[in-house]
Amino acid sequence: MHIYNTDHLKPNLRHNGVTMNKKNKLIITSALPYSEAVPHIGNFIGSILPADVFYKYTKMAGYDSIFICGSDQHGTPIEIKALKEGVTAEELADSVHEKIKGVCNRFGCSFTYYGKTNSESNKKSVYEIFGALKRNGYIKKVESVMPYCNIDKRFLTDRYIEGKCPFCGFEGARGDQCDNCGRLLTPEQLIDPYCGLCHNRDITFKKTANLALELDKLQGEIKEFVKERMSSWSRNAANKTISYLEQGLEAREITRDMKWGFEVPEKGFEDKVFYVWFDAVIGYIGITREWSDRWEEYWKTPDTKLIQFMGKDNIEFHTMMWPGILIGSNLGYVLPHTIYAYEYLTAKGLKFSKSRGVGLNMENALEIADADYWRFALMWLAPESSDNDFTIALFVDIVNKIMNGKIGNYVHRMLTLYGNSGMKPSELGTDAKLEDKIEKLEKEYIDDFEDLKLREALRCVVELADLGNETISNEKPWEFIAGGKIKEGSEEKAKALFGSLVRIVHDIGILLWPFAPKASKEVIEIFGAGEIGLKRLGEHSNKINVEALKPVFSKLGEAQLKMLERFEEA
Ligand code: MF3
Ligand code: ZN
Repeated sequence: MHIYNTDHLKPNLRHNGVTMNKKNKLIITSALPYSEAVPHIGNFIGSILPADVFYKYTKMAGYDSIFICGSDQHGTPIEIKALKEGVTAEELADSVHEKIKGVCNRFGCSFTYYGKTNSESNKKSVYEIFGALKRNGYIKKVESVMPYCNIDKRFLTDRYIEGKCPFCGFEGARGDQCDNCGRLLTPEQLIDPYCGLCHNRDITFKKTANLALELDKLQGEIKEFVKERMSSWSRNAANKTISYLEQGLEAREITRDMKWGFEVPEKGFEDKVFYVWFDAVIGYIGITREWSDRWEEYWKTPDTKLIQFMGKDNIEFHTMMWPGILIGSNLGYVLPHTIYAYEYLTAKGLKFSKSRGVGLNMENALEIADADYWRFALMWLAPESSDNDFTIALFVDIVNKIMNGKIGNYVHRMLTLYGNSGMKPSELGTDAKLEDKIEKLEKEYIDDFEDLKLREALRCVVELADLGNETISNEKPWEFIAGGKIKEGSEEKAKALFGSLVRIVHDIGILLWPFAPKASKEVIEIFGAGEIGLKRLGEHSNKINVEALKPVFSKLGEAQLKMLERFEEA
């Protein structure tokens, strides 16, 4: 098995033939969504969905894989939002966590375990890893000056202090950037700063000490790791990492002056907590640990392949800080094998991304259309190598012309023809020429998945339906039928043709599973239930139940379009 994508790499990054086999255990992860709000559709396609699609493939292919995800619960934005809503940060983070878990479930995601970062098992992992980093000499104390609000009695991280921009005079520039002129700022540069929470100007700049991870000391080893592995990463992950490494790594603070988070078990730092990204990446381990006592079998077996999906804004944490934590702690955890970062799926004219507050999130998306429709359409448009646009018109086309028009139509037409033929399943044969074409497409599907080209794999399923539809048009199977049975004299030809065409229906049922699990199950059930696996390809059983036939997909209706339009930008 070769889980990497090489074609897109610059020649000097092309991988050198590392292959993996079915004996490897796989840990598949998606970036952990912040439990601040239910993720928007644009965030879902950027990480959880492709990870889930890929995981489903690995199950069909028979890998020993687990799929780990969970809610990222700490951090300033959640603490502040809770403050505004008059609940504790933990209450807010836990209630949103339950919502995300529920909606992912309704989206058909099959996590091995969906956990959360604010858990006992993660705390254990964070403390163990922190202890090891300290013992191994990679933690140091750093001092900095931070604005402190004397009313709220808290330090104000960059975005929670505002004031006048020293460059353009804009009132309401934030401590990290001016939204008017775009210049990057530090809190000290703001003129007449005020607290972004209570809006008072009772602010003191105070010295504070935090603990930092000495990434500079780990730089050599991180470089080695990157050099060895990046051939199996997405191009954006490899390129960004190379440029960061060229600039040189610096020590990075891993504690913060705030209350919400894991307390720092270190004298003099008791009133601080770990930085959200520190316990978030360790969360991959902590969440697996909560799932099962078998967690170490996966995390500490050297040939386990850790395959991580994420949006492109998460790259640097996963290619430098996370490996730095793993290398520096030296506790025997596997390092990431594949880092696959998606570009952004932007929505022309639609409110789509998390930062904008209201908009099309995972919950309201399901009120408009079932999970299969979103999963399929989003994967069809997955921004694998560049940012991509999502529009209502595209969504309608994908659903109506491809899902319904090609796949749904083929399944229905072919099974109806088969029902009219009066043939028993045992009478079905194979058409050698057609079988060749089918197998070629199925092999392509598998290769695409092994190369993490998930959109391409989905296109193979559609091509299979195209093959079926074209064959029906060219070979006119109905001409073989008269009065509910096959005409005398054409049995040989009809058995072969019908057999291979029915195989296409059956195999589409299997291959759809990662993308549209509900439709997949419905098709498979026509052939009698049973496990969905690649082994079953081409082996439709002796049972074909065409009586219960109903459409696998339908077109989007007026009412659905109306609902979608509600999310159009004014
Ligand atoms: N919560 C982060 C985000 O949504 C992702 C965290 S990924 C993790 O951008 F691994 F670090 F948890
Ligand atoms: Zn204040």
